[in-house]
Amino acid sequence: MLTSEAISPDKVQENARSYGSHTLGGATGLLKDERGMTVLAENGSLAVRLVRNGTVRVKLFIGEAGGETLDLSSTVAVVEDAAGAVPSFAVSEDGTTYVLETDLVRVVVEKKDCSVRFADLSGGLVAHQRGLLWNENKAVTGLFAASSQVHYYGLGEKTGSLDKRGERYEMWNSDVYAPHVPEIEALYQSIPVLVAHEPGAAYGLFLDNPGRTFFDMRSESDGYVIQSETGSFDYYFIYGPRLKDVVTGYTALTGRMELPPQWALGYHQSRYSYMSQDEVLELARTFREKRIPCDVIYLDIHYMEGYRVFTFDPERFPDPKAMIAELKRMGIRIVPIVDPGVKLDLNDEVFKEGAAKGYFCRKQDGEPFVGPVWPGQSVFPDFTEDRVAEWWGDLHRFYTEMGIEGAWNDMNEPAVFNETKTMDTDTVHGNNGSPVTHGEIHNLYGLLMSKATYEGLGRHLEGNRPFVLTRAGYAGIQRYAAVWTGDNRSFWEHMAMAMPMVLNLGLSGVAFAGPDIGGFAHHCSGELLARWTQMGALFPYCRNHSELRSIRQEPWSFGPEVEAICREYIGLRYRLMPLIYSVFRESSVSGLPVIRPLVLEYPDDPNVANLCDQFLLGSQLLAAPIYRPGTDHRSVYLPEGVWYDYWTGEKLEGGRHVLAHAPLEKMPLYVKAGAVIPHTAVAQSTAEWSAELATDAGELSFDIYCSGGAATAFEFYEDDGLTTGYKKGAYNLTRFSVSEEAGKVELNVEALHSGHERYAGTWRLALKQLSFAPRAVEGLAEWRYDEQSKELTIELARPIAGMKLVIRS
Ligand code: GLC
Repeated sequence: MLTSEAISPDKVQENARSYGSHTLGGATGLLKDERGMTVLAENGSLAVRLVRNGTVRVKLFIGEAGGETLDLSSTVAVVEDAAGAVPSFAVSEDGTTYVLETDLVRVVVEKKDCSVRFADLSGGLVAHQRGLLWNENKAVTGLFAASSQVHYYGLGEKTGSLDKRGERYEMWNSDVYAPHVPEIEALYQSIPVLVAHEPGAAYGLFLDNPGRTFFDMRSESDGYVIQSETGSFDYYFIYGPRLKDVVTGYTALTGRMELPPQWALGYHQSRYSYMSQDEVLELARTFREKRIPCDVIYLDIHYMEGYRVFTFDPERFPDPKAMIAELKRMGIRIVPIVDPGVKLDLNDEVFKEGAAKGYFCRKQDGEPFVGPVWPGQSVFPDFTEDRVAEWWGDLHRFYTEMGIEGAWNDMNEPAVFNETKTMDTDTVHGNNGSPVTHGEIHNLYGLLMSKATYEGLGRHLEGNRPFVLTRAGYAGIQRYAAVWTGDNRSFWEHMAMAMPMVLNLGLSGVAFAGPDIGGFAHHCSGELLARWTQMGALFPYCRNHSELRSIRQEPWSFGPEVEAICREYIGLRYRLMPLIYSVFRESSVSGLPVIRPLVLEYPDDPNVANLCDQFLLGSQLLAAPIYRPGTDHRSVYLPEGVWYDYWTGEKLEGGRHVLAHAPLEKMPLYVKAGAVIPHTAVAQSTAEWSAELATDAGELSFDIYCSGGAATAFEFYEDDGLTTGYKKGAYNLTRFSVSEEAGKVELNVEALHSGHERYAGTWRLALKQLSFAPRAVEGLAEWRYDEQSKELTIELARPIAGMKLVIRS
């Protein structure tokens, strides 16, 4: 532990800024190219390329003159089809500048110093790279100017508030068991994308460098600084003008999540570790007896024999296949942990095969890099090699043959129990014939492991969707895995911090994320578990996980009151599953987050610029968790418009703060006027839910909150929840749109796509908060109206492909 000695006068160093003194110097010429231009300069060149309209790549070449030889390849973060058809553009030159212009943005490079301004077509300055400097080791510093109005978001998985102004972060995937406090600069994920926003303008800056980099929004009063220690300085400017455009543009570049299997959206239960087959089965039975929904149970490291990957301990888990089959009958799936460290053990099959084929990472002298992790001295697969990734992926047949459909990738920074906490930076990765050092690609290791796992599971699941959970990642990780935020603690502060952390992950392209509910380390309390489960039930990824030494925190661990609250809120997640699934589908198509900070939906409202103790699920359900002990009131900010209390139906005018009363059993929840909220009866698992829906008795309800004016719409998504058939069109997309005028509401239900069986059963539509008592519903003989609740109920026998109802006063 550090003591005050850490700040004794002789230890305090000058905070000297060493940005380096080399620059490109003045421009000496220009080369045009089919995607842009290369500015030639005294000490190198600067390639400016259009990826798509609004996304411009800028890459610095130190000492290189440009032309055909420039290496414009990208890392795996950038999807292959990111560069679409070349948008039309023009390159021009005057005495002082080179200009590349599309119908959206203008990129201006100053000849005198190669600084770059990004402007919109009205000439408004959007971003300004005012200097690029490097030192003798070619560590590069980019100086960017920004206005005093700017707020910063994104940057992946970081502690602290939503707005990153005044902060400095390091991108270096790190295993941090020490408490996650605001001053921690690096955690498990490194997603080097900064999202800058000020009134009327937004842009993203993605530095595609998987080595050690820094984002410093603190040191310069008039902007921010981005630094890279190794590799190339290769950044992408992503134009808004709206925040949503930035997220969409960034995910067009780095990809979007594929639709997860529905079971992965259910409630997950974990513990380090459930120690035996009997314990796991007993746990599953307890969930079912107590009627607490659950879809997944995790196996942490104790399921393995001596922590060797791709093994089961024969004593603790004598018949995993039978266990898995029995759990599946209960609607519960198993997700085992798989770490990258392979025990250095001549009797271990995985080690023997990997070593014989040269699949493990090696030092410069050709000897494998060996470091201690859970199994003792271990070696690490070199996932930069396609053949190794394929081998590793195929090893997952061990699991799929037992009926397992998901894997939990942990320790993949990679974490090593040595001085540097990771692999030696001079370890060499083969990289398919273009060797790189570990230092250059450290932040890619976890992503490449999850990619290999996802693709391997995909190959062996015969058309079912795989699920991968990962701790480490880099930009683009959303294509392969969900992310949990690592070893948090059972602290109220960590519950609160999970909101900005997951919200910023969402703005950084990672829509499927969540913390360990209840906290991993330290000891949970009943009150904390109740409050955290309320919040976690609406997070994209919903798993309760805790550490070996901590007191138990399964939903029933703290007596009947807390158990009932957990049952109620986990149940709420299952009741809202049709909404959650539709929001996930939207996210997989648009890249927009599943849960959103209010600033994403209300970017012009200054009250929400750093608001991160409330969030939206999709765009229309607002959650305001209680995250302090002994608290049963809190202030909630409702943005402009009309809102309804989800629990009482009370109508509330927005654009103001309200005081919510929230005793322990209640988490404040609000619905925006105009929202369509699909829901269903609670099921014990998503398997039970979809089986029920498919029968004649299956009921789906749609609460339609009349807006009293504005036209609104919602896209409801259905498919089989399990296979990749949706990619070939096996899904239904139904659009609900509501428009209102005095004395008349028009509801349109349109089938935008019908590729999945439309089941029989009932759709119950409840039009809530009608501003008039209806006399007639055109197009329908039977309907009910409740004077008191002002609710019009319509029951429709399915299947329904489309219809139009006009409700008149
Ligand atoms: C790491 C993980 C944690 C896991 C433990 C044992 O600390 O972050 O979730 O339980 O390792 O595998």
